[in-house]
Amino acid sequence: MTTQQVETGKTVRFRILRQDNPNGASRWEEFEVPYRPGMNVISALMYIRQHPVTADGKPTTPVTWDMNCLEEVCGACSMVINGRPRQSCSALVDQLEHPIRLEPMKTFPVVRDLQVDRSRMFNALKKVKAWIPIDGSYDLGEGPRMPERKRQWAYELSKCMTCGVCFEACPNVSEKSSFIGPAPLSQVRLFNTHPTGAMNKDERLDAIMGEGGLANCGNSQNCVAACPKGIPLTTSIASLNRATTVHMFRKFFGSDHMVD
Ligand code: SF4
Ligand code: FES
Repeated sequence: MTTQQVETGKTVRFRILRQDNPNGASRWEEFEVPYRPGMNVISALMYIRQHPVTADGKPTTPVTWDMNCLEEVCGACSMVINGRPRQSCSALVDQLEHPIRLEPMKTFPVVRDLQVDRSRMFNALKKVKAWIPIDGSYDLGEGPRMPERKRQWAYELSKCMTCGVCFEACPNVSEKSSFIGPAPLSQVRLFNTHPTGAMNKDERLDAIMGEGGLANCGNSQNCVAACPKGIPLTTSIASLNRATTVHMFRKFFGSDHMVD
């Protein structure tokens, strides 16, 4: 605690939903954290980790959460803050209502406390081949150029940090549904747009036309409103609806495109 905090004695109260293991019962615990101007939620969590004592003075275990970049780039620190899924590294205490409520995202299984298992999202990215297969055994040189207009919107899609917030916001992603979720769909559009990625376009479209794919989107539009990177997810989904329709007709009637 700095001299200033000792002098002012100002503190911030946190209510944290805790869970000791994936199958354990959850419970709320409250903590009082010394205030520092400009502090974010992660700095408060770090304080709690160093001082695992509840607001009423009971010793407890350190709170667990995920983090990495601390600058809203890696997506690891997502949690529900005052009812809204977002990154805890960019959530500033001064801009939040107090007491500050922290909960794990509900769409993903809890590992412990605020730490969740985002495998569902990563498995969906694997299912849709959200990458460009290249031969990495020799220097391939510069990649193909893209028209500037296309590059600009493709760059927006490439900002996805797999934070999982769009999964949390989507009413159609749940443990009862196999929906692959908004982010992997948008990545299909990104990689199908890329001149090299387009080699696997048909495979990606087949993947999203199957079980848990595009048809599971209920068009609630919650994803686009929640995405911290402002990714035009619903535009991607609309574009994929057109692309899958064309793909379906090509498959039905046969086309040179399919035997290239
Ligand atoms: S699309 Fe947006 S909300 Fe969804 S995972 Fe990517 S960055 Fe997060
Ligand atoms: S720690 Fe990387 S986004 Fe917050």
